[in-house]
Amino acid sequence: NYQEIKKRLNEEPQLSANAVTVLRRRYLKKDEEGNVIESPMEMFQRVAINIAQAELLYNKDCDISKTAESFYNEMVSLRFLPNSPTLMNAGKELQQLSACFVLPVNDSLEEIFESVKHTALIHKSGGGTGFSFSRLRPKDDVVKTTKGVSSGPVSFMSVFDSATETIKQGGTRRGANMGILRVDHPDIMDFIYAKRDKSRLTNFNLSVGLTEEFMKAVDENREYDLINPKNNKVLKKLNAREVFNEMVTLAWEGGDPGIIFLDRINRDNPTPQVGEIESTNPCGEQPLLPYESCNLGSINVSRFVDNGNIMWEELQNTVKTATHFLDNVIDMNKYPIKQIEDMTKRNRKIGLGIMGWADMLAKLDIPYNSEEALKLAEDLMKFIRDKGREASSEIAKIRGNFPNFEGSIYPGLGFEYMRNATITTIAPTGTISIIGGSSSGVEPYFAIAFYRNVMDNDKLVEVCPTFREISKKEGFFSSELFEYIAEKGTVKESTVVPEKYKKIFVTAHEISPKWHVRMQSAFQKFTDNAVSKTVNFANEATPDDVREVYELAYKEGCKGITIYRDGSRTGQVLNVGTSK
Ligand code: CDP
Repeated sequence: NYQEIKKRLNEEPQLSANAVTVLRRRYLKKDEEGNVIESPMEMFQRVAINIAQAELLYNKDCDISKTAESFYNEMVSLRFLPNSPTLMNAGKELQQLSACFVLPVNDSLEEIFESVKHTALIHKSGGGTGFSFSRLRPKDDVVKTTKGVSSGPVSFMSVFDSATETIKQGGTRRGANMGILRVDHPDIMDFIYAKRDKSRLTNFNLSVGLTEEFMKAVDENREYDLINPKNNKVLKKLNAREVFNEMVTLAWEGGDPGIIFLDRINRDNPTPQVGEIESTNPCGEQPLLPYESCNLGSINVSRFVDNGNIMWEELQNTVKTATHFLDNVIDMNKYPIKQIEDMTKRNRKIGLGIMGWADMLAKLDIPYNSEEALKLAEDLMKFIRDKGREASSEIAKIRGNFPNFEGSIYPGLGFEYMRNATITTIAPTGTISIIGGSSSGVEPYFAIAFYRNVMDNDKLVEVCPTFREISKKEGFFSSELFEYIAEKGTVKESTVVPEKYKKIFVTAHEISPKWHVRMQSAFQKFTDNAVSKTVNFANEATPDDVREVYELAYKEGCKGITIYRDGSRTGQVLNVGTSK
């Protein structure tokens, strides 16, 4: 009985003013006139009770109140939050709960426009889509039926982009796309230059799909084959190092394209018998098969530090409940199309990750750019992966293995039971970290304090909550200090902040790109899927600096890399050190 269970879920969430603003704008239930008719507490009740109902599919007489209570407690304490679509849509008519989708794009007009339609349906419900355009015949290739010539992948991408743009006005949140093209596609140079004109493909992130073969050719400074996917014929040859350098230069210029290592992603494909992975979701952290979807959730690790100690046992309990929660989401989800439902339910992938990593380090007095932080990243993620696998196996003993288990990598790894083909993913947590009041994903702090523009050109200083807390405790708290930091963006030159804390409250710009990559790689070692991470460069960085970091990412075992050079793109959301 919904009302009775609801009555028992009565702990109040402790939310910041920003969190409440974000929730009111997009997450809380509204009536037809647009008035908010739900409190944040009621949102968590709605989600907890809805997701707990999956229990009834496995035991129709069970009492779901205990499960609902455990889900509620994790969310209301902000220890764990599912991805935005689950918070927005669970228990509402839409009931679309996943953030990540990958759709196939096949080489016929009918199939291309079928994919555009599916994209529209997904964006309408708050999901993001990734595509590989590598199967499309190149520009100027013959079209048999009309005797005309094809416009090529880059031109078809604009169709997807326009569809996204149009839906943006009516949907729950801005749709996002990932476009991928293999480096051996004949149109690769057009793809690399596709976003040079900044008004184009604004709803797309682009990544070049690199192969081992290509990386070898770069290393040996030789030519490689570009192949027409229509007939597998070699159409031309290009010098690999020159292509690589162009990618680097364009990324240096404006952030796009990023790169992903396709062979590496497929080496970790848990169900190779089902098909090859060609693409990831929009932010790159979730490789998926065509027609596959995945729901994500993140543990706020900063909540697991008490007096300088990590509370491992409590963390283990949260991992267990979160795994159970995300597995339930697969059953409670309303899928936009049948093919996606089938594919998703055969692999049952979930993506459990973390947020609040920078906060956790600060609470432990560990600088982000230190060997100690790298070591803890590995230990922490290994712990979450192992406990997540244990939890998934326990669920499998009761509910069964994921249907594609036989033929997957798990029997070979010695597992008898596994409910989910993947368990761990590190998401950007762009919005849920605001709700959870933590630093985002595994990123360092972007700024310790900054000015947020509010109405009528008023500006408010916003301070990192962990810094505020520590500065109070250590006696250097003052509003003048916060103003000063918001002007400068960093605490580096402050005469008030003790040396120790200058090292601990280091920001993204003060951390060298190599440390960013090493941190990404430390987390990747124990993550089934991929790690969302931006490697920040100073405005003065050169294309050579970017190239070195790309090579390091390859060497360090990353699955891809995204870089951003400060000031290289207009419309940057936050400004460090400017009060204008
Ligand atoms: O914090 P939140 O759950 O809102 O999302 P996130 O962790 O920042 O992003 C996770 C994934 O959600 C992205 O990789 C995209 O697949 C999707 N997403 C989207 O489609 N549109 C957005 N505006 C933001 C995220």
